[in-house]
Amino acid sequence: MCGIVGYIGNRDAYDILIKGLHRLEYRGYDSAGVAIIDPDNRLNIYKSRGKVDDLENFCQSKNVSGSTGIAHTRWATHGEPNDINAHPHYSASGKIALVHNGTIENYNVLKEALQLQGCVFKSETDTEVLVQLIEYIKTSNRCTLVDAVREALKEVIGAYAIAVVDTDNPDTIIGARKSSPLVVGIGDGETFLASDATPIIDYTDKVVYLNDDEIAIINRNQDLKIITVDNVPTTIDIHTLRLSVSQLEKGGYPHFMLKEIFEQPRTIHDCIRGRIGNSGSKVTLSGVLENREHFQNAHRIIIVACGTSWHAALIGKRLIQEIARIPVEVEYASEFRYSNPILTPNDTVIAISQSGETADTLAAIQMAKKCGAFVYGVCNVVGSSIARATDSGTYIHVGPEIGVASTKAFTGQVTVLTMLALAMGQLRGTVKDEEAAKITDALRSLPKLIRQTLKLNDEIEKLSGIYTYVHNFLYLGRGYNYPSALEGALKLKEISYIHAEGYPAAEMKHGPIALIDHELPTVVIAPNDELHEKIISNIQQVKARGGSVIAVVTKGDKTIAEIADHTLEIPEVPESISPVIVSIPLQLLAYHIAVKKGCNVDMPRNLAKSVTVE
Ligand code: G6P
Repeated sequence: MCGIVGYIGNRDAYDILIKGLHRLEYRGYDSAGVAIIDPDNRLNIYKSRGKVDDLENFCQSKNVSGSTGIAHTRWATHGEPNDINAHPHYSASGKIALVHNGTIENYNVLKEALQLQGCVFKSETDTEVLVQLIEYIKTSNRCTLVDAVREALKEVIGAYAIAVVDTDNPDTIIGARKSSPLVVGIGDGETFLASDATPIIDYTDKVVYLNDDEIAIINRNQDLKIITVDNVPTTIDIHTLRLSVSQLEKGGYPHFMLKEIFEQPRTIHDCIRGRIGNSGSKVTLSGVLENREHFQNAHRIIIVACGTSWHAALIGKRLIQEIARIPVEVEYASEFRYSNPILTPNDTVIAISQSGETADTLAAIQMAKKCGAFVYGVCNVVGSSIARATDSGTYIHVGPEIGVASTKAFTGQVTVLTMLALAMGQLRGTVKDEEAAKITDALRSLPKLIRQTLKLNDEIEKLSGIYTYVHNFLYLGRGYNYPSALEGALKLKEISYIHAEGYPAAEMKHGPIALIDHELPTVVIAPNDELHEKIISNIQQVKARGGSVIAVVTKGDKTIAEIADHTLEIPEVPESISPVIVSIPLQLLAYHIAVKKGCNVDMPRNLAKSVTVE
């Protein structure tokens, strides 16, 4: 939620900041702004409602010179998205500017105290409180900017990643974090600051991930210095990025989402590479091997996640229970953290997160660790907060996912969970070799099967024309594909704003059947599996009530072809792997309907890719 960029060096900051904001737009896009200290030591701040393009238009005839600057793209929490509430916010004197990602929970108390001292507030944001507080402390204590930032942060309850500039210190940017990510990029005579490494990668591959309660002091003429809020210097751990610029571009596709859907043969290949061999049934996950006792002896596994990752967790539950015979519970991280959960050191918690930054998931991990549980992460973003907060884990390695609606991360998560279930089953001796071999063979063939399934694209594009303007959709699935129905419905509502509900097919008769008429299309996920006959009856129940049916079926399914209005054929796969293949037509259907409706599929309204606030 919200993206931050900062630059100090020998080039003009503006272009670097704007390019960085474009990279971070997936984190929020309702307003944007920049603050740059110009060569005459004036602090020029420009901000506007809307996307980064709107900010660029606004800045066209403005003085954007200067080589020290900070910038922000916002996802509103406090105060509506408008020019005034956009960041950067600035102090009463106009000398200090600040950008912020997070939430200052006690901002009201701080604001009232500052108002009593005569501070006047321009915006409705929690962020302005922080910049006013920094200036108030700096002036009344006659202290340095760094000390003022430190003291102000000690007063703050909540989450923050901030960047601060000050015309009294034109050669310095200060960054600080608590619960929201912040990365420093170390270049040659220049330093960068950003919410993730994507704005930095064009200039340097050397980065430092700030930890909670750390403050980075970035000075044009000195080496990077990091201290804690209590003023204790910390050691600087420099990482080398393994990210390429081409991964961050659309590569000829009209949208990131379509690019990411079509990347899946390769991303799944990368995900399984080195973890299952070219033949045989053995699965090698170093995180499991190094922590074997936590999987061998776990009394229970609890999976915590949000959004699409939670849907992957539901599939993971079935896989782990089936293959490793350990009881699994799946929890929304946001509910789990406030549920006073009963956890013991015999529990293993798995946290799933594409971004590795979701605030609720991070809080759930911290709670689990406090209770002594072992916590295993399944993340995509290398070096992310969740990847670092967990005891061990497995990366899904699908590369940067930029489209706000998750696609390749979901299939990567399900693939990792399949391997995790197998690795655990093999450790515990609960899976027979031939069963494991059937699944590992299927995993190896996934890239090829996804490639075949992607050929449905043209057919789905045509089909989407029929359903562009409906108002509601129902998605039904059973067993492993009940979560696929939830995920299919989520994809459609996220990007096309069509209301869609996912349901276990047999539950339809307990309520949703009342909704069915000729205006409510139903997507039924009906590959050949154990419950195939039963799902055919569910399709008949829909048809008998005048509803139209789009069925995702195994190639050659004549029975369903006769009763459904449209069938989308996928290749034959074992049931436990089918959610990966099934998700391809569902992603494409949501994508094409949204494009036909004229929606911005990569940046749907009100959403953000990385939800770093509660
Ligand atoms: C947001 C994103 C979703 C994502 C969810 C959880 O809502 O828009 O695509 O599934 O957060 O994010 P995570 O990064 O933890 O998987």
